[in-house]
Amino acid sequence: MSGWTKVAKLADVAEGAAVPVEAGGRQLALYNLGGGEMRCTANVCTHAFALLTDGWLEEGVIECPLHGGRFDVRTGKGLCAPIEEDIATFPVRAEGEDILVELP
Ligand code: FES
Repeated sequence: MSGWTKVAKLADVAEGAAVPVEAGGRQLALYNLGGGEMRCTANVCTHAFALLTDGWLEEGVIECPLHGGRFDVRTGKGLCAPIEEDIATFPVRAEGEDILVELP
């Protein structure tokens, strides 16, 4: 599955929430940053195995629940130790009631 793929309903991702979804065999994280801004990254931390959606989202930064690594969810950039590798990001858009993610 590639191209724009429906992954959730807008109503499923409340403002300030980080929600796990699966599409195209990938585990993804959807983030509602407020003001209509939606973002998507891979959900599995690049450090070890943890789901970022089990962590804490604040001001566009997700903190991993396992060792406290943080990523900028807009760029995927790893912001602090122990993160050594940035996380993949994917384009997101809303269409009607749906959230679509563009998968490679
Ligand atoms: S698994 Fe995410 S910081 Fe270690």
